[in-house]
Amino acid sequence: MSKTNMAVYPGSYDPLTNGHIDIIQRGLKIFERIVVAVLRNPDKTYLFDLEERCRMLREVFRDSARIEIDHFEGLLVDYVQRRGVTTIVRGLRAISDFEIEFQMALMNRKIDPRVETIFFVPSESYSFLSSKLVKEVYQLGGEVSSMVPPIVDAKLKERFRHRG
Ligand code: PNS
Repeated sequence: MSKTNMAVYPGSYDPLTNGHIDIIQRGLKIFERIVVAVLRNPDKTYLFDLEERCRMLREVFRDSARIEIDHFEGLLVDYVQRRGVTTIVRGLRAISDFEIEFQMALMNRKIDPRVETIFFVPSESYSFLSSKLVKEVYQLGGEVSSMVPPIVDAKLKERFRHRG
């Protein structure tokens, strides 16, 4: 398959939300194959370690032959280059995302001018959704089952067994 039909969708996925899934499904309308690339940043503290984040993604997409789950450390453009891909996919939920996403896209292009970033806009029902808020709401006793896949909900339940 031509690598031009392939895109990398990088992120922390701590954890995967229905918003991410929405972006992946939109991406598959354009790209033959999407590589979901999970970042491991040794300087960052995650709720779920790399293994757990990848396992949840693999479980959710186990029947999707066009989706690959991978992980990376270091610069995104280096990873993208190693994979022989030139397109990065990101989601744009709201104007508030724009500034940081714009900066990242331009920085990535500066480091490697061959790299293009394509943005997908999720369904408006996910425009408020973020991994950070999902964790916070869950930790404080809120219900998130409509915002994450069942396996993520179950993992959160396990992690916050003694939530307030
Ligand atoms: O899900 P996130 O946390 O919004 O994803 C951010 C991510 C992983 C796309 C970004 O932090 C990233 O690309 N990190 C890798 C390090 C890197 O390349 N930094 C320079 C980017 S401008």
